[in-house]
Amino acid sequence: MKGIIVAVNPNRVIGCMGDIPWHYSEDLKRFKKLTVGNTVIMGRKTWESLPIKPLPERRNIVITSQQIEGVECFKEIKKALAKSEGDVWFIGGAGIYEEALEYADKIDMTLVPDLVDEDGCVYFPKIPEDEWEEIMSKENEDNSKLIQKIFVRII
Ligand SMILES: NC(=O)c1ccc[n+]([C@@H]2O[C@H](COP(=O)([O-])OP(=O)(O)OC[C@H]3O[C@@H](n4cnc5c(N)ncnc54)[C@H](OP(=O)(O)O)[C@@H]3O)[C@@H](O)[C@H]2O)c1
Repeated sequence: MKGIIVAVNPNRVIGCMGDIPWHYSEDLKRFKKLTVGNTVIMGRKTWESLPIKPLPERRNIVITSQQIEGVECFKEIKKALAKSEGDVWFIGGAGIYEEALEYADKIDMTLVPDLVDEDGCVYFPKIPEDEWEEIMSKENEDNSKLIQKIFVRII
């Protein structure tokens, strides 16, 4: 399984000024439940934004043209995937999501209600409707403000 996991607001914002402009423990709990024990692939800026790094109990991979000490790095997603086994989650940011839409078979999305001042924000790409089908949309069981959506690749 290769999945994308993301939290977005109604305008598809995923982050602003190097940070995530909302905080929901229920979303972090879901993120942990799905990713622990698996490989997580992220962009260099997402790596830099992590308060605790590496993310524990997961194989952390950073996509970057640089060499970063203390974490496994690859210059391209394709090369990282060639060296990965088991379930892989693409965890952001925008450039990773954009390219990962080609490789992923599933998107696990948390829709948050927060509208934000969009200066310096980055966005989740538009999901091509002819390639993906939404198979679930329901309230998060611990917080009804959050909507959990699952999309699967259909072609
Ligand atoms: N809401 C969410 O679920 C979520 C999840 C993750 C992150 N975020 C937020 O998103 C923001 C960070 O995302 P971002 O889009 O600015 O940066 P990012 O994708 O995390 O990192 C960008 C860097 O990663 C490398 N990179 C990204 N995509 C690549 C690709 N396809 N091929 C090769 N290299 C690639 C490049 O590194 P080099 O420049 O080193 O070559 C690029 O400069 C932060 O605000 C973070 O908090 C939100």
